[in-house]
Amino acid sequence: MKTNTTQPDTGGSANKSKPVSILGTGFYLPERILTNADLEKMVDTSNEWIITRTGIEERHLASDEEATSDLSTKAALRALKSANIKPEELDLLLVGTSTPDMPFPNTASIVQQNIGAVNATAFSLEAACSSFIFAMETARNFITSGTMKNALVIGADKLSAFVDWEDRATCVLFGDGAGAVVLTSDPTKRGIISNVLGTDGRLGNLLKIPAGGSRKPPTAQTVADKMHFIKMEGREVFKSAVTLMTSSAQQVLKQAGMNVEDVGCIIPHQANVRIIKAIRDRLGGNDEQYFVNVNKYGNMSAGSIAVAFCEAIETGRIKRGDTVLLVVFGAGFTWGATLLEY
Ligand code: ACO
Repeated sequence: MKTNTTQPDTGGSANKSKPVSILGTGFYLPERILTNADLEKMVDTSNEWIITRTGIEERHLASDEEATSDLSTKAALRALKSANIKPEELDLLLVGTSTPDMPFPNTASIVQQNIGAVNATAFSLEAACSSFIFAMETARNFITSGTMKNALVIGADKLSAFVDWEDRATCVLFGDGAGAVVLTSDPTKRGIISNVLGTDGRLGNLLKIPAGGSRKPPTAQTVADKMHFIKMEGREVFKSAVTLMTSSAQQVLKQAGMNVEDVGCIIPHQANVRIIKAIRDRLGGNDEQYFVNVNKYGNMSAGSIAVAFCEAIETGRIKRGDTVLLVVFGAGFTWGATLLEY
């Protein structure tokens, strides 16, 4: 299939109303680490192939007992601690994920119960790997409209539950993890400066989990046919990811009247080092501006950008006052970019 990678006009929004800033962050990675050497024993692959094609060295995997809500809860508690607010002070709790614990109740409701965010409206939002940025922009709109003040936004996925561990083309790519941010209305800070979101449903077939939903409910046959696992046209996904993340980043910078040189830290979706390098070649900027952790964690879908943002803050790579560009891409296809002052 030929991929149409021209980006439709997605609109976007610059922050002209109430500033929304990042009050605190936290992330969680499950304990178990799967290295490329481990994968060499599971499928016909090599450390050399995985590093050359993806840059991934290892990834964290959740245990059988850990669901997406458990990863989210641990990240959420850390974010609340860093924000120094109580769970009762949250008005909104969003979980961006495509690997919910179950069809319903939604994963955000489970997290709400786990952390005691009794006053928060909680719901989950699914835009695959782009879910965290879609959720952050949703929360920002609730806050700028004045209906909510404090929001907890989580990006989390347990993709290992949907990976075919016999398919070398996909199983080497993914990991599990969660990142969380507390957003608040704060007139003294610049906060989120501008945002772009986009979707092109025509490209949905290139990256999907065909069964397990209402289209193909689980049956013995769908399980035997491995239809509950990730199916991906890797090369087409690669090309669209590069084109659409580059154009979203350009669009969000243009909207804010800024250049790539004005950005202290650029965090693209952590799917593949080659994708990140291809974006850098097109968008510009130097290597030091780009934050990369895909080598340690693999692609954690919605968890990737959330964990990367939190880790960059916790390790001092991003400091208060720095300008940060987050840019994502995922199944759907979906994509987006957020420019903010931390
Ligand atoms: N080990 C060894 N060989 C492999 C492996 C592996 N793990 N996987 C595939 N190969 C083989 C293939 O069978 C093929 O062999 P052949 O030439 O004999 O047929 C050869 O390697 C080349 O395969 P390609 O798929 O063409 O390799 P490519 O260079 O495109 O790299 C990759 C594959 C890494 C998946 C790349 O296409 C990619 O990164 N795509 C984007 C994937 C992605 O980021 N997806 C998620 C984004 S959205 C989201 O996060 C949900």
